[in-house]
Amino acid sequence: MKETENFDQTIYIRKVREKIQEAQQQLGRKLTFCVQTFGCQMNARDSEKLTGILMAMGYVPSVSETADFVIYNTCTVRENANRKVYGRLGKLKHLKEQNPHMRIALCGCMMQESHVVEKIKDSYRFVDLIFGTHNIYRFAQLVHQAMESHSMVVEIWDKTHEIVENLPAQRKYFFKSGVNIMFGCNNFCSYCIVPYVRGRERSRQPQAILDEIQKLVDDGVVEVMLLGQNVNSYGKTLEHPVSFSALLSQIAEIPGLERIRFMTSHPKDLSDQLIETMASSEKICRHLHLPVQSGSSRILEKMNRKYTKESYLELVSRIRQAMPDLALTTDIIVGFPGETEEDFQDTLDIVRKVRYSSAFTFQYSKRSGTPAAVMEDQVPEEVMQDRFDRLLDTVQAIAKEECASLEKTTGKVLVEQVNHQDSRLLTGRLGNNLLVHFPGDQSLIGKITDVYLSECKGFYYMGEMI
Ligand code: 5AD
Ligand code: SF4
Repeated sequence: MKETENFDQTIYIRKVREKIQEAQQQLGRKLTFCVQTFGCQMNARDSEKLTGILMAMGYVPSVSETADFVIYNTCTVRENANRKVYGRLGKLKHLKEQNPHMRIALCGCMMQESHVVEKIKDSYRFVDLIFGTHNIYRFAQLVHQAMESHSMVVEIWDKTHEIVENLPAQRKYFFKSGVNIMFGCNNFCSYCIVPYVRGRERSRQPQAILDEIQKLVDDGVVEVMLLGQNVNSYGKTLEHPVSFSALLSQIAEIPGLERIRFMTSHPKDLSDQLIETMASSEKICRHLHLPVQSGSSRILEKMNRKYTKESYLELVSRIRQAMPDLALTTDIIVGFPGETEEDFQDTLDIVRKVRYSSAFTFQYSKRSGTPAAVMEDQVPEEVMQDRFDRLLDTVQAIAKEECASLEKTTGKVLVEQVNHQDSRLLTGRLGNNLLVHFPGDQSLIGKITDVYLSECKGFYYMGEMI
């Protein structure tokens, strides 16, 4: 099988478009669609691709789930993500009873689990289409099949070696975009379901990435977010291996591109060369998301993270030496099986030592099929909750202090939108990812502007343009 294919679903897009035009004429109105995204930035980017295809078919966007085509792009990283989907599906059933033209599709990570698909086939028979993470590029063909068929269409692939290039995508923002640089994960952290539902690591060819970014820039994009489960191992499995830092240097040379972000970085693969490339580039944002997961070396080993508390701290100190102004953010899990109070104290300790600008904190969630699910000493719910609360207090107190450190300085802000609460204000982001609100005209959306950060309000700034 070829490793790279070009998107070619035009014939199915055309066939579906004809059916939609027919239905629109009958109904005397446009047919609408609504894409609901659960989970991470990878899913958000996939949803832009689904949106691009639906628009090419002639559906018009709607934010309401009363739309004629509703698709849930699901996540399964923690159990509560699954519960949310089941809860909302129940409500869709009633909407479908009222709208005979309504079609319901489910895709994403949750659908790669066979017990989920079985449950939907049994208890949610009104769903029209189910597909997974590996065959999203076949969406148009699957929609066509679902329209022709009178029963649920289910297509889940276990794995894929292919990367399909040139899928149409409809960006949420005209000035910034996510760009996948790799898919899947080979790390098998013992708590994590991602390698099972997203498959093995596959990197895109550097030229395909550069071409996509060039096109985005030609189209008005000034900021890209390079996406991968572990961007630091980008390119290792290519026929002609290329390092992530080499890729970054090439991307930074694209004229007109002003900001580069990336996520997620696994600490075990973060090279000195990457630190050097970041430090010497004006375009690469001073922000690094570096999930620590736990501060206890004993738990980190059971998590299969392949670093220790000490080696993580040493890495942070090298990064900070090279870039003292860099904001570090992280992911932390409490209540991993066997975690003792002493282990948890190590987590609090690493948080105090690193001083993260923000952290996503999670209670451990048992995912069936992962090694941690069958480990002894699962931590009781109330102990987990108590540790979670204490961790959150510590993380937030430090994050507030870190955020305040830029007060009364000037920073470059990429203006993203008119403020939701007060339309006289604009909202934008500093390179370190903090939000800033300031008075200004909406013609500035998509532009990078100098803003004086007059007051820190905890986790964001109020500012004035200068
Ligand atoms: N339980 C809780 N949190 C998890 N994460 C991944 N798997 C689990 C799990 N089983 C968290 C990790 C990861 C983030 C995306 O989600 O912190 O970095
Ligand atoms: Fe999951 Fe670990 Fe891969 Fe991240 S690196 S997706 S936590 S297995």
